[in-house]
Amino acid sequence: MIIARSIKKIREVILPLKQQGITIGFVPTMGALHEGHLSLIKKARIQTQFLVVSIFVNPIQFGPREDFKVYPRRLSRDKKLLRQAGVDLLFYPSASQMYKQDFSTYVEETTLSHVLCGLSRPGHFRGVTTVVAKLFNIVTPDISYFGQKDYQQAQIIKRMVADLNFNIKIKVLPIVRDKDGLALSSRNSYLDKISRQQALCLYRALQRAKALIASGERDAVRIKKNIRLFMRKFSLAKIDYVEIVDAETLREVKVVKKKVVIALAVFIKGVRLIDNMLVDMKKGRFI
Ligand code: PAF
Repeated sequence: MIIARSIKKIREVILPLKQQGITIGFVPTMGALHEGHLSLIKKARIQTQFLVVSIFVNPIQFGPREDFKVYPRRLSRDKKLLRQAGVDLLFYPSASQMYKQDFSTYVEETTLSHVLCGLSRPGHFRGVTTVVAKLFNIVTPDISYFGQKDYQQAQIIKRMVADLNFNIKIKVLPIVRDKDGLALSSRNSYLDKISRQQALCLYRALQRAKALIASGERDAVRIKKNIRLFMRKFSLAKIDYVEIVDAETLREVKVVKKKVVIALAVFIKGVRLIDNMLVDMKKGRFI
């Protein structure tokens, strides 16, 4: 596996490959890799010829009171996992490589970014779209892979790619869960034993919503109310939001029809966790 720390080095590797028509797959990450990341990498390994993974804990997507400083950093373990997964190149830039001191250009999606997590994490998605746009320009992938766990992020990236004419296909792959249903996240490592148990409220609430819809409930307000009531059983859970939104526009819906997403964000002892379920009413699928 090639390790590139500079933009110059990665360009030297990628350019000749592009000239030979080799397809480049790209999985951007912030490291502390888990099975969720590895599922993206596995798919990318099959679908593309040269596979790039980036590890960069992007400072500009964290708010001033968020966890940038303590975000888990596990480089040597990550490198091992990436080698085992057959990754061709790891791009692992420093913050100064990505952001020069006089950096002053940002990429901002202005509609989808201002709902759900965008409300409680102002500036977060601007940081994400800026770094992903930069990484796309540096890596120049043909296909890039994202997880459904960050559903809103994936929709915003898709919109950015369409709006700014990046010639890149975006693939969004299903959420990977622990045996008991908890969605994998690098932030799960912040949870102590009791919090880990309480964190199950997200998955269980989604399962409850699924059961309600399967039994014929279509009223989004009633479903959300039911979820909020259910969450009360989890004494450490502090709801940030419970929303049911259109899967494309992310606008709140009143009735569950066509394709909607049930999206949750919950604090467990200060650790903010998100989860979601895509409901495709036409196909009768809950993803
Ligand atoms: O999902 C993440 O890990 C990050 O938001 C991303 C896409 C790597 C950008 O920093």
